Amino acid sequence: MYIEYRIYDTTSNLKEAKELSDSIFNKYSATKVTPEFDSAKPVFSVIIIKNKESIGYIDLRNKIEDKFNGNVEVDVGILPEYRNKGYGKMLVAKLLEEVKVFQEIKKIYWTYKNTNLASKTLAEISGFKNKIDLDENQTQLIFKNNY
Ligand SMILES: CC(C)(COP(=O)(O)OP(=O)(O)OC[C@H]1O[C@@H](n2cnc3c(N)ncnc32)[C@H](O)[C@@H]1OP(=O)(O)O)[C@@H](O)C(=O)NCCC(=O)NCCS
Repeated sequence: MYIEYRIYDTTSNLKEAKELSDSIFNKYSATKVTPEFDSAKPVFSVIIIKNKESIGYIDLRNKIEDKFNGNVEVDVGILPEYRNKGYGKMLVAKLLEEVKVFQEIKKIYWTYKNTNLASKTLAEISGFKNKIDLDENQTQLIFKNNY
């Protein structure tokens, strides 16, 4: 198995990262979280590539649009045919390892729908904590980037 990662931070081409993540996302055409979140700019992205094919992405986006205050929100997706094979876990681990040096990113929020067991499990096993019930349908977890 040949896995590579492409990492985008504020010094690299986040527009390219957004296009890549959108193209992966569009392939499985799920519904985006909210229009505001969708238009928020990614500040950090990792793409996972298997045998030269981009199979998944994780973006960190400004939690409050236009105003970076160290709080970011996760958007993650793996192409359907590659799910439940450990790629999501590898991708999140890579993101958390790479983001360590970006101490301006303080808290990473992960919001999942309570029916989305894959998202919930992935967040929990990746070390996201401090569960908050946003409403009866959605839960939020936080990862503190303070090493
Ligand atoms: C959520 C998502 C990114 C997970 O990626 P993935 O590559 O399938 O996850 P992994 O294979 O690494 O699995 C991670 C953990 O979740 C568990 N898991 C995966 N799919 C699951 C499912 N459908 N139901 C229950 N548990 C599941 C795995 O068993 C694993 O836990 P373990 O290590 O304890 O066994 C992927 O399912 C996806 O792209 N979903 C659609 C988009 C989405 O919902 N994104 C999240 C919105 S924030």
